[in-house]
Amino acid sequence: MFKYKTALSIIGLLAISCISFSFYLPNILEQGVSNDASTNALDTSPEARADSLLALMTLREKLGQLQQLDGGLSKNDLPTLIKEGKVGSVLNEVDTDLLEKYQRIALEESRHGIPLLIGRDVVHGFRTIFPIPLAQSATWNPRLVEEGARIAAVESKAVGINWTFAPMIDVARDPRWGRIAESPGEDPYLASIMGVANIRGFQGKNLSDSGSMAACVKHFAAYGMSEGGRDYNSANVGERHLREVYLRPFAAAVEADAASFMTSFNEINDVPATGNEFLLRGILKGEWNYDGMVVSDWESVKEMIAHGYCADEKAAALSAMRAGVDMEMTSTCMVDNLPALLTEKKIKLSQIDDAVKRILVLKYRLGLFENPYQRRELQAQVLSEDNLKAALRTAEQSMVLLKNENAILPLKDDLKSMAVIGPMADAPYEQLGTWIFDGKEKDSVTPLNALKKALADKTEVNYAQGLKISRTKTREGFPAAIAAAEKSDIVLFFVGEEAILSGEAHSRAHLNLPGIQEELLAELGKTGKPIVMIVMAGRPLILTDLLPQVSAVLYAWHPGTMAGPAITNLLTGKVNPSGKLPVTFPRAVGQIPVYHAHKNTGRPANADNWVHIDDIPVKAWQTSLGNTSHYLDVGFTPLFPFGFGLSYTDFTYGDLQLDQTKMQKNGRIIASVKVTNTGEVIGREIVQLYIRDKFGSVTRPVRELKGFEEFTLKPGESTTVLFEITEEKLAFFNADMKLSAEAGEFTLWIGGHAATSSSVDFVCE
Ligand code: NOJ
Repeated sequence: MFKYKTALSIIGLLAISCISFSFYLPNILEQGVSNDASTNALDTSPEARADSLLALMTLREKLGQLQQLDGGLSKNDLPTLIKEGKVGSVLNEVDTDLLEKYQRIALEESRHGIPLLIGRDVVHGFRTIFPIPLAQSATWNPRLVEEGARIAAVESKAVGINWTFAPMIDVARDPRWGRIAESPGEDPYLASIMGVANIRGFQGKNLSDSGSMAACVKHFAAYGMSEGGRDYNSANVGERHLREVYLRPFAAAVEADAASFMTSFNEINDVPATGNEFLLRGILKGEWNYDGMVVSDWESVKEMIAHGYCADEKAAALSAMRAGVDMEMTSTCMVDNLPALLTEKKIKLSQIDDAVKRILVLKYRLGLFENPYQRRELQAQVLSEDNLKAALRTAEQSMVLLKNENAILPLKDDLKSMAVIGPMADAPYEQLGTWIFDGKEKDSVTPLNALKKALADKTEVNYAQGLKISRTKTREGFPAAIAAAEKSDIVLFFVGEEAILSGEAHSRAHLNLPGIQEELLAELGKTGKPIVMIVMAGRPLILTDLLPQVSAVLYAWHPGTMAGPAITNLLTGKVNPSGKLPVTFPRAVGQIPVYHAHKNTGRPANADNWVHIDDIPVKAWQTSLGNTSHYLDVGFTPLFPFGFGLSYTDFTYGDLQLDQTKMQKNGRIIASVKVTNTGEVIGREIVQLYIRDKFGSVTRPVRELKGFEEFTLKPGESTTVLFEITEEKLAFFNADMKLSAEAGEFTLWIGGHAATSSSVDFVCE
């Protein structure tokens, strides 16, 4: 039994550990004293087991479960704290022996033997690094994404990590925001599909399977809407927009049984997400009936003070608990202040119990009480050939061919020589991208190495870095690069951003190639050699002025461990590019946000009414330019639309049909289109369905993605793709904020990207 005197004797220890439990409340802290956990039989449900355990726990022990601590910061104190039941979860510790020790202490030395959740940001792979999540979305292939998440889970479990802070399912429409790299892109439908695929992969069929880990969908919510693309910034968003765009992937995650949610750093409509009762208790735990657990983001409970929402840590604890946070990541506001708040009757014990129960249920569901340790049997799979092959496939399908003038790609078989130039050609660390805590550059295969391996026996490879890193500002490498270009038949120019330039808190205001990469491109252009530009980046960059200077562009994102072989296979045509943009590419930063599902405005832009800034007559009459919604300098279309991506073959779309043009109440329409591979090589196409609801009780976007199918066709082969249109597909949050479809007129498009023009109309009764 944990006595008050014992508590006093460890005050010194706790003072250094920053966990200042409220010792002035010994009585309530020590309630619940039995050691008898015999009701915890294996054959009862996780909920029943959690209930019976909860009944035995003191308040202090309950509060311990609500606390997550950073392994790195608390190494000295952790064993004691774990033994005393004062930690529910540890994050950022990957030393297998240490993790095993922590779990052993938790299980064998703490009073109730409650195992730890071991959390880690396993965002796009653990040791085998897959393409960044934005790139994975560009595959439009949920099977591959699920497979990647599964591999990440298996590799993590091999060292003892049982909880990943992924997938990040923040819809992101602003490439200035560094975390767009971690996001599934701009579209809520695609984001939902990719989010669910990730959850399935991480969690498997059963959370307690040896290769499964708990997913944590983040960041709830509207973090991707941070004003101006500046990280942690405020999101001001109307409720309809919030629900239809930013919450939608999270609603899908609840349906997919995501084990946990993480709150976001930002405030939404003036209330920080971590203290947002409307979001957490109202929508998530209320309306959606979510029974999993909610963890705060790193110190986001405490940060409510800096937000100007809470006066001190006690107020922050109150806000978080009231709002529905179950576990606090790294700051200790809740554990320090909940006892006093309880005594003051500002919170109820039932609220704490509910939070603890959610955490215990997850631990039972994960099977941690029975098997909390790393799964040694999985260690052989870490970085296995199969895992690397899966990472390769995903990288291949994620890259987007944006330009291919005169079919310069694939590289011709009889190519005599090529120059490989640029800071990203042989950058094993940078190709991995952001959030690769456990990835190692020594495992990376770079494009230079892969190209040499694949081609060196028949093609001369002339390598010159040109620039050391993407931000290098000295031209000292230029002469060698120009010389390499001059003696080659073609230039492969590897440009982009280093990994550190995207990700958390890494927003950029300029989205051109950093450093003087554009100057190097101009110099290479003077050699007259055809240039294929391969871009490795964590976000869409502005390519407008670069496009005319190059013959081809392959947008490779940050592709991960297998970047080199993937790029080589695509450049040589061993694999046909098939990725499609999960985000619209702007012409200029000033055009941001630019996304396909925008509204029409009362004065929609059109080509007839746009006079380019250079063509405006001097002293032109105020209204002579047409008064429509566009930019004088860049117009109104993006550089590349959402869903866009070229192939080495051609797909033609024909025969767009509906089985009926009137949809009855509760009825359905089948839309079909015939897609033919009219080119000369086998290829994978992603057929996309867009719908516009022309008039409604509230206005609707000009197009919304409502479905997609991906399949592979041989040359000359055709397939008919069917989409079922139901009321559910047409539903939106109407003027009364109810999710339902309205009768009226609709336009439907099916094609290879969001700007496709072939359409057909229908009505819904
Ligand atoms: C802060 C980030 O916002 C979140 O995504 C991450 O999971 C946590 N830190 C833990 O590293």
